[in-house]
Amino acid sequence: MATWSAPGKVFLFGEHAVVYGKPGIAMAIKPRVSVTVRKVRNPSKINSPYIENCFELTGVTGSVYIHSQLPSSSGLGSSAAVTVATLSAINDEFNLSLEKKDIADIAYQVEKKVQRGRASPTDTFVSTYGGLILIKDNKRRILPPENFNIVIGNTLVSHKTSELVEMVGEFRRTNPLVVDPILNAIEAVTIRSMHNFNNLKVLGRYMDVNHSLLEALGVGHPALTRLVNAARSGGAYGAKMTGAGGGGCMIALCPKRSKSRVAAAIEAADGKAIITTIDTEGARRE
Ligand code: PMV
Repeated sequence: MATWSAPGKVFLFGEHAVVYGKPGIAMAIKPRVSVTVRKVRNPSKINSPYIENCFELTGVTGSVYIHSQLPSSSGLGSSAAVTVATLSAINDEFNLSLEKKDIADIAYQVEKKVQRGRASPTDTFVSTYGGLILIKDNKRRILPPENFNIVIGNTLVSHKTSELVEMVGEFRRTNPLVVDPILNAIEAVTIRSMHNFNNLKVLGRYMDVNHSLLEALGVGHPALTRLVNAARSGGAYGAKMTGAGGGGCMIALCPKRSKSRVAAAIEAADGKAIITTIDTEGARRE
């Protein structure tokens, strides 16, 4: 029997713009998914298409037990975390000698298959390696870790990443003169943010700007606006939606002392708050 866990992720900057080759910054976060895999002769039927494909692609069979602290379908990368943890546990239980890179690659194949081609390799990469990740020219690189105090606010409004990405694509096709400058501005904010990791006030301001630019792309939602405003009033340096938008989650960058106040403000605005920080480990044996 082998148990492995893997973290979730948030986008700090640059979501949607990364689809057009612009840079983005993602971070692995603490709520984890843990998966136990056991070699058995006659495994019972598996209900998750992600787990089913993990077994199919590795050519083994077994039983699985999942324990998740990450809400699903909220843009926090829970399907990637389940996939990465499952593959890591399979690798361990069946001595497959897969390296981290193989796990990230196979996990991306699984996500692509289940999500019919529209998966992003960022989620599986971040969940496998952990830490702070720069996405640039469609490649991913690990940056030195930063101890940002982040409060996540889940609107509990469901959204479909594929539809939102498609919507932005359509807006860009029909209005390149309007949309391209917005994508360029998101790129500028992302690049400037990397020069200000030690200046949290400026970083917070950039998050606010990034949020407005995402709203200009048309992926805002009243519930996101409500939670973002609540977090700012609660004392955050800045706040923005994270991931595809249209519902899902927002993040607030906070002074250490205001984390609970920001979380309470998010809850008072009908959001579900998670106080978190960076996870530097990625997939790990439990
Ligand atoms: O909602 P999420 O966490 O799956 O993030 C989507 C991020 C996008 O930039 C909108 C799409 C992508 O593939 O990077």
